[in-house]
Amino acid sequence: MSTATDDRYKALEKAIKKLGYEKSSLLEVLNSAQGIFGYLGIDTLKFIAKRLQLPYSKVYGVATFYNNFKLKPKGRHNIVVCTGTACHIKGSEKILQKIEQRYGIKAGGTTSDEALSLLTARCVGTCSVAPVIVFDEQIKANVSLENPLCDIEESIK
Ligand code: FES
Repeated sequence: MSTATDDRYKALEKAIKKLGYEKSSLLEVLNSAQGIFGYLGIDTLKFIAKRLQLPYSKVYGVATFYNNFKLKPKGRHNIVVCTGTACHIKGSEKILQKIEQRYGIKAGGTTSDEALSLLTARCVGTCSVAPVIVFDEQIKANVSLENPLCDIEESIK
């Protein structure tokens, strides 16, 4: 998904703007980005570098220095369950529990065959269609609480 059409980048842009595009806000921006995406992918780090006018090597260096930042999910596929306020109100906790039970992993974990990593995010920027999950970079809107994996389970191998 392109950074221009992905609502998560709009949310990240908003967070960076709030911090005044200050280079010194890098740690806060990385925290916000992880909250939005569930992890810090290369495209996200490049986006941050560009917006803060910092060298990519600096942004990458800081992101890899701290253990609390995840650079990429371990699994071949990943699901990010949004647990932000709008999604929480619409039952995201139930969605998370269902997926945890189905795959026998907790948020932050990866299945033993490394087919799936499960992550959470604070808000992926599409609150109007909550509850939301992101499956392999694709935003799934109005996710069913009863069967949150109905159209994606087949793809998880
Ligand atoms: S709270 Fe889930 S998209 Fe905003």
